[in-house]
Amino acid sequence: MRRPALIVLAAVALAGCSQEQGSDASVPAAPARPAPTAEEKVALLTGLPAPWNAGDLDNGRRAFARCRSCHTITEGGPNMTGPNLYGVFGREVGIHPGFNYSSAMAEADFIWDGERLDHWLENPRTFLRGTKMSFAGIPDPEDRRDVIAFLKVETGYTPPPQP
Ligand code: HEC
Repeated sequence: MRRPALIVLAAVALAGCSQEQGSDASVPAAPARPAPTAEEKVALLTGLPAPWNAGDLDNGRRAFARCRSCHTITEGGPNMTGPNLYGVFGREVGIHPGFNYSSAMAEADFIWDGERLDHWLENPRTFLRGTKMSFAGIPDPEDRRDVIAFLKVETGYTPPPQP
């Protein structure tokens, strides 16, 4: 019975902190880092490995309109029909907290990268049999390149350091 009291204390302490910083205590998890500015996004894009560095972010944003009804991409954003996608690159498939994955996705074993996302978005059902993501796929390779570049820039991806 000690633990809940400690958690409450910690929560009160945290709420106190955020009030001191003048932020709204009713907003639970403030983003750890500010969203990149437009210039920073262009710099992030240029720093991506090929072919994603040739992506068109505006077209990627338009292509992402097909995903928005099911996915949020902001840090700490809610799960909807699909899981929040912040930090998805470099992350193990099917582990976003609080999301109820299909057993196909929960049991899959790989790390998301641009290439895998490209195959996934081309045809989710053949990429992962038994997935519950009901999405027909993006047939156009350039639209896929652009939506992946857009996602890399928007979801906190940082390229691995050059050897
Ligand atoms: C109709 C709702 C829906 C749409 C539209 C949709 N998704 Fe999904 N997405 C899901 C669901 C549901 C899952 C979980 C699948 C499972 O558990 O099998 C998922 C899973 C994913 C995952 C795996 C996440 C993880 O944590 O491993 C990625 C990446 C993803 N979607 C990207 C996209 C992108 C990009 C688009 C748009 C091009 C898109 N999705 C469109 C519902 C959707």
